[in-house]
Amino acid sequence: MTPIASPTQDELKALVAQAALAYLVPGQIIGVGTGSTVNQFIEALARVKDQVPAAVSSSEASTERLRAIGIAVLDANEVERLSVYIDGADEIDGQGCMIKGGGAALTREKIVAALAERFICIADESKLVEKLGAFPLPVEVVPMACEHVVRRFQALGGTASLRMRGSDPLVTDNGQHILDVRGLSIEDPLALESAINQWPGVVTVGIFAHQRAQVCLLGTPKGVRTLSY
Ligand code: 5RP
Repeated sequence: MTPIASPTQDELKALVAQAALAYLVPGQIIGVGTGSTVNQFIEALARVKDQVPAAVSSSEASTERLRAIGIAVLDANEVERLSVYIDGADEIDGQGCMIKGGGAALTREKIVAALAERFICIADESKLVEKLGAFPLPVEVVPMACEHVVRRFQALGGTASLRMRGSDPLVTDNGQHILDVRGLSIEDPLALESAINQWPGVVTVGIFAHQRAQVCLLGTPKGVRTLSY
């Protein structure tokens, strides 16, 4: 008998991307995140685009992909509320708290998530964790504050490094830099998110506990597991 191959991470992402279509409310504007799982969601969206009058996007990259499939993209300022925001995560825990920002889009992701009634996280099963923090925590920082913020993380036991693109610091869609912080112990995501957000020069910390997911569609070899929080 030929053994059945386990699905690849990409196949699991495609599975949850497809499953997320069930959360669209026909005729309503949606929020769309950023990353490789979301790219698969945008591909799936192309098949039902008549149900989606427009989207608010969390990055220039997703905006380009949405427009390429014929979906209009609105500025977040034009929209008061979204029924759903669909995005991936770098880590998600048992309460729906996440680490995000692996794709450097965390600030706009948090803004669009804040407009939405429900955050639907789409992720392969490798993203589900007991405790957040193995994935380096992305923090978007105003360039002149980087060294100051690095020292503040040091005081918490973390090691922050400036994210590079080639030989230059990465510049986000908002013109800022990203620090990736390793070695933090994230016992209380809500409290740590609130605390880091107060540091001068921090634009956004990639802990999504205030803007956590209400639903996670998790891709597993047995199919899509739905976690509701
Ligand atoms: C981008 C993000 C992404 O949602 C996160 O990095 C997951 O990406 P992927 O779907 O490629 O695994 O937060 O800033």
